[in-house]
Amino acid sequence: MKKKYYITTPVYYVNSKPHIGHSYTQIACDTLARFIKQLGRDEVFFMTGTDEHGEKIEKAAVESGLKEGQEQKFVDGIVPVFKDLWTKLNIKYDYFIRTTDDYHIKTVQNFLDRLYRQGKIYKKLYKGWFCTPCETFWTSTQSPDGICPDCKRPLEKLDESNYFLKTSEHQKWLIDYIDKNPDFIQPDFRKNEILGFLKNEELMDLCITRPKSRMSWGIEVPFDKDYVTYVWFDALINYVSGAGYPHDMERFSKTWPAEVHVIGKDIIRHHAVFWPIMLRSLEIELPKSIYAHGWWVIKGEKMSKSKGNVIDPIDIISRFGVDPFRYFLLREVQFGSDGAFSEEALVARYNSDLANDIGNLLSRSLTMAEKYFDGHVPDVSNINIVNTRAEEIKARAIRSVSEMEKLIPKLDFTTALANIWEVIALANKFIEDSKPWVMAKEGRRDELALVIYTLLEALRIVSIEVYSIMPETSEKMLAQLGMDKADGLNLANAKIWGSLPKGMKVNKSQSLFPRILVKPQ
Ligand code: ME8
Ligand code: MG
Repeated sequence: MKKKYYITTPVYYVNSKPHIGHSYTQIACDTLARFIKQLGRDEVFFMTGTDEHGEKIEKAAVESGLKEGQEQKFVDGIVPVFKDLWTKLNIKYDYFIRTTDDYHIKTVQNFLDRLYRQGKIYKKLYKGWFCTPCETFWTSTQSPDGICPDCKRPLEKLDESNYFLKTSEHQKWLIDYIDKNPDFIQPDFRKNEILGFLKNEELMDLCITRPKSRMSWGIEVPFDKDYVTYVWFDALINYVSGAGYPHDMERFSKTWPAEVHVIGKDIIRHHAVFWPIMLRSLEIELPKSIYAHGWWVIKGEKMSKSKGNVIDPIDIISRFGVDPFRYFLLREVQFGSDGAFSEEALVARYNSDLANDIGNLLSRSLTMAEKYFDGHVPDVSNINIVNTRAEEIKARAIRSVSEMEKLIPKLDFTTALANIWEVIALANKFIEDSKPWVMAKEGRRDELALVIYTLLEALRIVSIEVYSIMPETSEKMLAQLGMDKADGLNLANAKIWGSLPKGMKVNKSQSLFPRILVKPQ
């Protein structure tokens, strides 16, 4: 029985519609999922979904004009907005989980019930702070001034009885575990932050309920009907309930542990501290890794629904296209670091990397194939010229594929793309320096054939390589090269130089990325 390659995104709050930050995580995971499929070794299970309980959703429902008790109606109305955006962004997930799904609710209650029976959950008076936008509890030591250490907004004071999950016995093994499994938390600097926190601060038992009298939109605690579960306890369990735990243990054992939970750095503590403790408390294996990427910021502030400074991805893709948006997000900023989003930066990348580099290379190469070889791939099988520049392009192209095999599973999209663009730059430079138009004029047919063949072959490889990042572009490029889109789905096809069938007809059509004219200010 072969284990699946299980990739997750966070389940997003449905208090309002998704923005560029959420699109980012989706696009990264979609690229990883497509790439692993392209490698052809593993079956992939890529899951995303929505987080639908808790105080902030309850508030949003009331603010939308619905009465208390109509939260389900509210969330049912928002979920399609998420799904619709994912379709528009070409996110091909395998499964969508909602925390209001029946089986998920049962799994959460199963967790609570077992933990309670094992004495790992107990009730006590909670005095401390709560941040509603972050749905996070804070102690007065963590926040002496009543301001949320994460989002810097004022906290709410709580003084109520709640149920707690014991955490103290977990601190030591978790530190050891993170030390011994250096890939568990990525990137490295995030791992060090978590280790620093675990080594310097004593873990507080985790408050995992809210009294219904204050907040009732949640999963009922099976052993005390006056309480609902804390939304984070509910949400984290999605990763196992969606994989079949415990209702379909056969599927679960083929899927769990997840290869990677991809999240933003805002929620790393919940994932790297609470979640491992929850799993360990029930003797469930830990996920293989957690990758926390950085934030897209706008004018120095995190783009956030609750701050209201968001950019609508629908607007961006309607003006610039889906693939340029996917490309920009993965190329502009090293995955793991923060980045500033601006339309100017997007247009600059579009015009230079897409219109100028890849778009031009395709159209120039096809134009020459049409002009000099009647639109056919030239036959170079009997040509005995050695062209060192052509050899260099061939070697760089092949190498970029094996680099990509190492980089994408590590979520280093930026370097992988930079490598591919090196191939593109070499090919463009090759055109300028070898001047095929002069070869044509002077009747140097063999040399000309070799140049055009090299360009088309490099383009074929590039079009397969860009598939996971820009699926539509890959398809369009292959079609113009006269190939089938299915050829792009197998990365092995990019590792063999010389697979373009000789004599095949190319199909030059519209330019991939028409230049965007920048209006003078
Ligand atoms: O935290 N830049 O949901 P959420 C980059 N329901 N990524 C961003 C971003 C930004 N400015 N803003 C949001 C929750 N994200 C919980 C998760 S999981 C068990 C429960 C992305 O709707 C990033 O992935 O607030 C971040 O972690 C996530 O959206 C938070 O989404
Ligand atoms: Mg958030």
